[in-house]
Amino acid sequence: MSDLASKYGPYALILGGTAGIGAGFSAALARAGVSPLVVARAADAPGEFAQRLAAETGCDARGFALDLADDDAIAEVAELTAELDVGLVVYVAAVSLVGPFESHSAEAKRRALSVNCRGPLETCDVFLPRLRARGRGGLILMSSASGHQGTGWVSTYAATKAFNTVLAEGLWWEYREQGVDVLAVEAGRTETPTYRGQRPRDTATWIAPIQSADAVASEALAALGRVPSHLTGTRGRWSTRLMRTLLPRRTLVALYGSSTRAMFEPE
Ligand SMILES: NC(=O)c1ccc[n+]([C@@H]2O[C@H](COP(=O)([O-])OP(=O)(O)OC[C@H]3O[C@@H](n4cnc5c(N)ncnc54)[C@H](OP(=O)(O)O)[C@@H]3O)[C@@H](O)[C@H]2O)c1
Repeated sequence: MSDLASKYGPYALILGGTAGIGAGFSAALARAGVSPLVVARAADAPGEFAQRLAAETGCDARGFALDLADDDAIAEVAELTAELDVGLVVYVAAVSLVGPFESHSAEAKRRALSVNCRGPLETCDVFLPRLRARGRGGLILMSSASGHQGTGWVSTYAATKAFNTVLAEGLWWEYREQGVDVLAVEAGRTETPTYRGQRPRDTATWIAPIQSADAVASEALAALGRVPSHLTGTRGRWSTRLMRTLLPRRTLVALYGSSTRAMFEPE
């Protein structure tokens, strides 16, 4: 992990970096000597979180309060970081819509599209040329195992995550010979405030144990530059690969839909 600073440079931008998996990335990078520039919505949280990391590790962490659902958010991030040598970019924030398709308003779905798809796309638009111009860099898009196939009860969310997987994999290929590593991280269930806030039942943990946010971030950073996409968690990775290989598509879709509903449907 300590070669991240020599490989990617002094600053990393973490879009959604103060809680959950994003906080895992911020802390891991700060410990590795890469100063995290953390973006989140809550007015004081990014600054306070950055100050804490700076005090703990001696890094030059900074925080920016922005809502990534806003149309001009990525342009603003670009401007705020223009003078800093950002070598690594991680897009983490997402809107997770859980429940039947009709239970979410059109506005909630538009917001999910904006944070989960437009934000990552514009981040790639703005930062990939910057990373390419430096001659080296890394960019990670957070996706989900639910985005590999249709997943009922999170249909819209899963579709937005498919966008991230497919986008990052394509860009991995385009940029691999230009010194820029791109990675999609297909996370399984991860212990975060957002996940816990959805009041899930922790089912089938023997097949895919729930991971810590720190473990997901460390795995992602270790996978960057090695593969186009990475499924997190050793046991979850092997069981998921096996299901994807062996099961017909309709069975896979039915399995993901029924297990997601079983996790989240109220009694
Ligand atoms: N947790 C899981 O089980 C799981 C499983 C698979 C994939 N994932 C993926 O992993 C990523 C992280 O998930 P997570 O559970 O850690 O929680 P999350 O709610 O997606 O991310 C939390 C971080 O993002 C910030 N954030 C959220 N919305 C934002 C917005 N509109 N603008 C700016 N910042 C925003 C939060 O701070 P503020 O609230 O202060 O803005 C916080 O710092 C997501 O992409 C998710 O799809 C998670």
